[in-house]
Amino acid sequence: MKKINSYEEYLSNYEKSIEDPTVFWSDIAKTFHWHKQWDNVLEWNFDEPSINWFKGAKLNITENCLDRHLDSNADKTAIIWEPNDPKESAQHISYEELHQRVGIAAQMLKNNGVNKGDRVCLYMPMIPELAIAVLACARIGAIHSVIFAGFSAKALSDRVNDATAKVLLTADYGVRATKKIPLKEIADNALESCATIEKVIVFKRLDGSVNMKADRDFWWEDEILKVNGVSAKVESMDAEDELFILYTSGSTGQPKGVVHSTAGYMVYAEYSFRNVFQYNDKDIYWCTADIGWITGHSYIIYGPLLAGATTLMFEGVPTWPNPGRFWEVVDKYQVSLFYTAPTAIRALQACDLSFVDKHNLSSLRVLGSVGEPINEEAWKWYHINIGKGNCPIVDTWWQTETGGIMIAPLAGITPLKPAFATLPLPGIQPCLVDADGNEIEGNDVEGNLCVKFPWPSMLRTTWGDHDRCKLTYFSTYKDKYFTGDGCKRDEDGFYRITGRVDDVMNISGHRIGTAEVECAINTHETVVESAVVGYPHDIKGQGIYAYVICTVFDDESLMKKEIIQQIIKEIGPIAKPDKIQIVSGLPKTRSGKIMRRILRKVAEGDTSNLGDTSTLLDPSVVEEIKIGAIK
Ligand code: PRX
Repeated sequence: MKKINSYEEYLSNYEKSIEDPTVFWSDIAKTFHWHKQWDNVLEWNFDEPSINWFKGAKLNITENCLDRHLDSNADKTAIIWEPNDPKESAQHISYEELHQRVGIAAQMLKNNGVNKGDRVCLYMPMIPELAIAVLACARIGAIHSVIFAGFSAKALSDRVNDATAKVLLTADYGVRATKKIPLKEIADNALESCATIEKVIVFKRLDGSVNMKADRDFWWEDEILKVNGVSAKVESMDAEDELFILYTSGSTGQPKGVVHSTAGYMVYAEYSFRNVFQYNDKDIYWCTADIGWITGHSYIIYGPLLAGATTLMFEGVPTWPNPGRFWEVVDKYQVSLFYTAPTAIRALQACDLSFVDKHNLSSLRVLGSVGEPINEEAWKWYHINIGKGNCPIVDTWWQTETGGIMIAPLAGITPLKPAFATLPLPGIQPCLVDADGNEIEGNDVEGNLCVKFPWPSMLRTTWGDHDRCKLTYFSTYKDKYFTGDGCKRDEDGFYRITGRVDDVMNISGHRIGTAEVECAINTHETVVESAVVGYPHDIKGQGIYAYVICTVFDDESLMKKEIIQQIIKEIGPIAKPDKIQIVSGLPKTRSGKIMRRILRKVAEGDTSNLGDTSTLLDPSVVEEIKIGAIK
């Protein structure tokens, strides 16, 4: 696949992609390996919604990730794995070896009863076997659902049950810095309420000292041996067959399973990877995300492997054994393309600069950012101290639902502006709308961000509940996909994402619904009601502030600890509130609606002007909340 080489070429490609999307995308799609060509490039209807890209085509995405590269690049490293502990050995897996290991793992799944269309849940640490398992599912047409290994047993069981998954792949333990995470034990707790799981296949990351349930639990290593080196037959998939489900938070307490399909996702993953990062064959590419999130799916596994790149997978954390770990790894492998989250940048920015200056970093060519708005200060620190002023920063805006990067500079091609995601990729038609749903034309404007034409990697449905997909994304504004984000378009037509306009928070780049945290808090027996809001946080971008009404309690600090424990149990440590304020009432309108605007202001520490509180049922609760506000 050819990539865009200049700004003029970007502009002309963009124009072509809007004037004739069919020709534009079919030219790109031709560079892939298909069992059968498509009958029609695009059929769509945002009302239902019904989206079909490359209808009638047959393919397997893993042949495009693996087999396609074997003739010319069999020995090239596909995956570099850097373990949590730098003293442990790294792994270099070539395209040939990855091809073989995926084929065998796919046969292992087959032997354990997994067939096309079955759902397989993956609750695994950041080890090569996770990438292998993802690809093995795709090889035989099973739908993978990766569940971030930081989620609790309850969160895991909710997702397994929603997907009615047949098999769970996990590990004995995960390791992060000095912590040992008992993944199998958590999975065992989850599975007590999961009737559909028939088998659990467990990879031994540590010593295997875990309970194994007879006839249900099997060791990965044993199951692989039983395959006798035979690779599974590749399943020929329809273009629109589901490739994966990935759960994400919305404005209700129940996470939704975003469904991506095969051909469109594939075409857009490689196209966006090559163009945004301006990938060259010799690049060493590192995305620090976890495969449990969409970034890991599209830009650790699929995008880079489709492009035949070397992709680095890191098991550890940025600050252990010391805050120079990222930079040490960059030097160790001569990483040239580096993609991380603003929260990691801010955390490292807060550490001594000597942790950066010890390292050379001259291999770096492009820096990326994803997951939340990157503030100007962090942008500059990243640019000067990590990129030494020489590396373009691609601030990439996208979502679980969009499947791939939507608005971002093409590295070294698009003019940069700190804190701006800049311009849409070819094929992407963003628009801003006002509260009445009218499109806001022109520049120097602000509104809600929508997309008014389909793109290949857009979500197709939400698992098991198509109406929810329609309601959440396609009903707010007619004939438009609504992102849930607010956005500015400046005088040059450049886009700057300003953050969510719904009840979704962005905590360290993790998307968490306020309703989800409230539901978790409300499971505590003495909690009557709660309201959760996000507030600005120096490192995490947003922190979680919870207002909680309890019945009786003796010890406030004990009560707060119990609430935190409850959240860890229901969701996981990522949803722990930073501040909990026990209150006797919440500011509600006469119709019973919580006025979150007031709670947000108090959480921000700005109580000077709370606006009109006269419509409140009981304005005195506001005074109490102000007095008890946690600094
Ligand atoms: O609010 C936007 C923010 O993250 C949300 C999507 O979260 P998720 O589905 O978890 O995917 C994260 C990784 C793609 C968006 O609705 N967001 C993501 N990237 C940016 C961003 N906000 C501002 N700038 C970005 N570059």
